[in-house]
Amino acid sequence: MTKETEYAIEVDKLTKRYGNLLAVNDISFTVSKGEVFSLLGPNGAGKTTTVEIIDTIRTPTSGKVSLLGMDVTKKKHDIVPRIGVLPQGFSSFDRITVRETIQYYSRLFCCRNTDIDGLIELVNLKDKTKEQYKKLSGGLKQRLGIAIALVNDPEVVFLDEPTTGLDPRARHEVWEVLLGLKKKGKTVFLTTHYMEEAELLADTVAIISKGKIIAMGSPGELVESNANYLVLRLQSVDEKVFEIARKMGFAPVLDNHKNIAVRLEHTDDVQKILNAIKDAGALYLGLDVRKLNLEEVFLKLTGEALREDPPQMEEQ
Ligand SMILES: Nc1ncnc2c1ncn2[C@@H]1O[C@H](COP(=O)(O)OP(=O)(O)OP(=O)(O)O)[C@@H](O)[C@H]1O
Ligand SMILES: [Mg+2]
Repeated sequence: MTKETEYAIEVDKLTKRYGNLLAVNDISFTVSKGEVFSLLGPNGAGKTTTVEIIDTIRTPTSGKVSLLGMDVTKKKHDIVPRIGVLPQGFSSFDRITVRETIQYYSRLFCCRNTDIDGLIELVNLKDKTKEQYKKLSGGLKQRLGIAIALVNDPEVVFLDEPTTGLDPRARHEVWEVLLGLKKKGKTVFLTTHYMEEAELLADTVAIISKGKIIAMGSPGELVESNANYLVLRLQSVDEKVFEIARKMGFAPVLDNHKNIAVRLEHTDDVQKILNAIKDAGALYLGLDVRKLNLEEVFLKLTGEALREDPPQMEEQ
């Protein structure tokens, strides 16, 4: 029986093993209805495995996963009509056009009322309806993929790395589409290794590393609770500045462009350093003071970078 729940997704102690590899290691979280939830992590962290267990494509080794109140291992046939999926590395048939592709998937999934024009408008492909799939740029292909994920007007949409490999402009265009989905109140489960993507779109971010969720919260909360120090950066400093900061008991780091970064526990320390520099008659060209961003929080928590930037797909 389907139970009514405020959660679109409930994951409890989920584990997935591939032979000796523990790809997903005892993770638990919930996703509220209408929320954009992002699983943020580097290659091989276990994102796709997690998504594809929730959207019924793979089976868990242990743990319990419910989608719209239904057990994903038992209710696949009831779940599938109510969800949409953009798989990682989506591709479609080369020779059929944008409109035909959406029509094809609408029929394939037996959707009676697909608003094809509405979808084309949502993903901003109005000028491309007669273009064949193979002629679309990487960003346009991904936008078409999002339209396909929506042919059944799903309640929950899974998007597995929708912008990986796109150039920054194409990525922003996909984000526009995702913001449109958010406005429509869809529950969106998004995996990504782009910090800005999670920061811009997600209500909740779960950071996953080596199969474990190591931090979870809104982007603001994650930064707030992990960035318990400030970084003062001084640009083009003269030689004395490094020594001044060091003698005051700080640990400045100098790069080869003569910029210094100093980690500070208290806001007052900023003024103390600037006063000492002024008193010594030393110079610098610019400064900024800021907390860590989500990407740096990730580095701090995991010791690993979010991604090695892959080659970008060609844009037209
Ligand atoms: N079908 C499979 N059989 C065996 N090992 C697998 C299988 N699928 C994934 N893995 C392994 O499980 C781990 C997690 O893979 P997964 O694809 O879930 O990571 P991911 O976070 O989606 O990575 P990416 O960012 O590269 O897409 C990796 O070590 C991967 O090699
Ligand atoms: Mg993946």
